[in-house]
Amino acid sequence: MNIGILNAGGDCPGLNAVIEGAVGAAKARDWKVYGFYDGFEGLLSTEQDERYIELTPENCLNIRSTGGTILGTVNKGNFTVKSGVGGRMEIAPEVLAKSKSTVGRLKLDALIIVGGDGSQTIGLELRAIGLPIVGVPKTIDNDLGATDYTFGFMTAVNTVSQNLDRLRSTASSHQRMMVVEVMGRHAGWIALYGGIAGGADVILIPEIHFDIEKVVRRIELRKALGQRDIIVVVSEGARIGEDLVTIDEETKGEVRLGGIAAYLSRKLETATGIETRYCVLGHTQRGGSPIPFDRILGVRCGAKAIDLIEEGKFGDTVALSRTSMISMPIEQAVQQLHLVDIDSQIVHQAREIGVCFGDEDSNGMHHNGL
Ligand code: F6P
Repeated sequence: MNIGILNAGGDCPGLNAVIEGAVGAAKARDWKVYGFYDGFEGLLSTEQDERYIELTPENCLNIRSTGGTILGTVNKGNFTVKSGVGGRMEIAPEVLAKSKSTVGRLKLDALIIVGGDGSQTIGLELRAIGLPIVGVPKTIDNDLGATDYTFGFMTAVNTVSQNLDRLRSTASSHQRMMVVEVMGRHAGWIALYGGIAGGADVILIPEIHFDIEKVVRRIELRKALGQRDIIVVVSEGARIGEDLVTIDEETKGEVRLGGIAAYLSRKLETATGIETRYCVLGHTQRGGSPIPFDRILGVRCGAKAIDLIEEGKFGDTVALSRTSMISMPIEQAVQQLHLVDIDSQIVHQAREIGVCFGDEDSNGMHHNGL
């Protein structure tokens, strides 16, 4: 068999591990793998402009430990025309036709698409014109309902946690407050996990709309107890009441998030009198080597995608369920964003250990005095 593989959308630690896993499992079956460059754009290859490479265990040796993707990726281009937030993808018919002819010319028996919900939706469009697609879910945001965890997420959490340790030490030297902005779009997983791991005092996530007054009250309580080094983790998509705070204009119907830390740090400094700085962790969360959890998950995703191809399960995506790799229809996987359940055990436990989410109705004082 001949298999194609591509990454699409934003990059994510663990993409190379998926490639290495797929190449290894394909080799075990004596199958060939072609990697397309620059996401779906690689499908627009022509004989004069070949935008793919044959991948072998030799040229993929130990890439599982490396960040980024050896194939490159794009999150704009010919395949990502959106008609608005959550809107339908409209791929031009000639682009679909060209993709089909590339798959035919290379005699591909299957195409593995490693991407987030947008890329998997494009995969469904390719499936609708008869291409044999298999999906692998990818995003640091961990917001895909299909799978317990997406690879890349734990590496992002690790980056947040390590940076909070660094920021805590300088905050403590200067008796300052640090407002730290993290990624995640409309899901608060990175803020929640990274914030708990790094001992944040306040964690603000999109799922819990917050009130600045309530955050201020909690910080005042900490101050009264003698604490002045305060760490506030704020998700880029967190909302003050109903409002998002962003510095960028909408581009192509997608809100580019970012800017809330700068706004919030000024407000909190004025209200509490504690000297405050902000730090936007930004794309550091997407870069660097994947941690072991993501290397293992990535390799397993790649190997499982080859199993699905062998079983003829086209239109399905791989997923992690507890400790096993399973599969499910892509349609089902992209139906719903996987958001933090505000009544979940982990949120309750975070509150119990003193984390403020900016929504406490009481005076913010927990039974443990925090
Ligand atoms: O979806 C992954 C993600 O990193 C989000 O957390 C973030 O909002 C967005 O991508 C950033 O995208 P870009 O790389 O286009 O700035």
